[in-house]
Amino acid sequence: MDSEQQLNTWQPDIYDRNARFVSDLGSPVLAMLQPSPGERILDLGCGDGVLTEKIAASGAIVVGVDASEAMVAAARQRGIDARLANGHSMRFEREFDAVFSNAALHWMREPDAVLAAVSRALKPGGRFVAELGGHGCVAAIIVALEAVLARRGINGAAHIPWYFPTAADYRARLERAGFTVDYIELIPRPTPLPTGLEGWLDTFAENLLKPLQPADRKRAVAEAVELLRPVLCDERERWTADYIRLRFSARLAS
Ligand SMILES: C[S@@+](CC[C@H](N)C(=O)[O-])C[C@H]1O[C@@H](n2cnc3c(N)ncnc32)[C@H](O)[C@@H]1O
Repeated sequence: MDSEQQLNTWQPDIYDRNARFVSDLGSPVLAMLQPSPGERILDLGCGDGVLTEKIAASGAIVVGVDASEAMVAAARQRGIDARLANGHSMRFEREFDAVFSNAALHWMREPDAVLAAVSRALKPGGRFVAELGGHGCVAAIIVALEAVLARRGINGAAHIPWYFPTAADYRARLERAGFTVDYIELIPRPTPLPTGLEGWLDTFAENLLKPLQPADRKRAVAEAVELLRPVLCDERERWTADYIRLRFSARLAS
């Protein structure tokens, strides 16, 4: 169901150093949520709670859930009501006016189970506003990692931890789960990587790097870096990842 290895490898300090851009770039989807004072909002895959805190600043009453103990602990340190739960199986019943999620749904490999859990968690008329990796996200990085693994006789495709849907696929799933889709769009978003490709791989690609022999990992990463340098790195050694986001706003019938 989940990439369990990855669930156990989220490290708040490494995330903060290499991937703060994830929550920083969450402003557009946060703006779509339009939280208001007193609303009850669930932040699904809240991570270390930086965006959750921003939702709470609107006066909404926010609960964060995340499947990583370390991330839940980091969110709690910010004063967030963060709970350890898996998006596939969380057990909230008609409790929330809105469910929000940023950069987390593509880690959940059974989207229909997640949508059923989100729909259960919402009150009638409740809204679901989210952004996730969309079809084609980090395609160059995936191809390079698969090539490096293939050189070692490893089938990288079997270790991809992400689900990057098209807008049509996700719209259909939302509608089958009972939602009306007000907006859904794939958005190409080339994303500067503050600590380069290696920092990104360290933070997000554990599932794909895990099958490597530990003594070979450094060499394999260096090979991926060289494969990707011509397309993702500029002449000043600035790396930009080929992100594509899927952003949507949907609601249940009242
Ligand atoms: C890239 S982080 C995004 C965190 C936060 N939303 C942000 O914008 O910074 C993805 C988060 O999704 C969580 N996650 C992955 N799979 C999950 C699952 N099945 N259920 C709940 N959370 C999950 C991870 O633990 C991680 O904290």
